[in-house]
Amino acid sequence: MNSEEQLREDLFQLVTSLKSYILLEQDSGRKYSSMYLKGEVPSLDATNIEDTDKGGETAFIPSLTLDDVRQELGDCQRCNLCEVRKNLVFGEGNYNADLVFVGEAPGAEEDRQGKPFVGRAGQLLTRIVEAMKLTRKEVYICNILKCRPPENRNPKPEEIRACEPFLIKQLEIINPRVICALGTFAAKTLLKTDAPISRLRGRFHSYQGIKLMPTYHPAYLLRNPGAKKQVWEDVQMIMKELMSNE
Ligand code: URA
Repeated sequence: MNSEEQLREDLFQLVTSLKSYILLEQDSGRKYSSMYLKGEVPSLDATNIEDTDKGGETAFIPSLTLDDVRQELGDCQRCNLCEVRKNLVFGEGNYNADLVFVGEAPGAEEDRQGKPFVGRAGQLLTRIVEAMKLTRKEVYICNILKCRPPENRNPKPEEIRACEPFLIKQLEIINPRVICALGTFAAKTLLKTDAPISRLRGRFHSYQGIKLMPTYHPAYLLRNPGAKKQVWEDVQMIMKELMSNE
């Protein structure tokens, strides 16, 4: 592909991604999405909000649900990964979770089962969650990409662009207290940075006003067990944050 063709391809992907996002906004029939992203509070007489209790505080959440987002995603054909996937892996767990884990993309086992983090790295993530005195049902687990890249290759920019609007919606709806970005791709994509995970981890960053802790990916831990110590430090900071009343 020459540079002009590449530019055309990039533009096409950008327009596709923008279209998905706008359609999702329109189909939701919800007026408040962008207000929430900007941190504005809708008026209390708004009809399409519901009242929920989160951590002792009353919060107003949009009526769009994760099921709506899943429905909008449908039998997604927005990038080439649809041709090779067995199952789309949307995410699973508590729709009202205080803690959301975001990984990179489904692997072979996840693709087979349609569930996130159920392979070897997933078993390690489960143990990390349990070490936090939580269960997988209490947190929410999802990925940057919803379909498996062949041979587990790195996600391509156009795949991230096509898929990201749906992750943005998921995080906006769940509105957790903390997001844990697992590995380089999740951290870089959510924080829009090129900094390496080794420099990002160990402290909270902000994603749309939500505290975000980047840490090493469980698959990296399987290859580098020495890094478990740092992950445990990151995880303890998350636990402390979740236990605080702020
Ligand atoms: N690795 C990921 O990043 N996500 C999964 O769901 C499984 C393995």
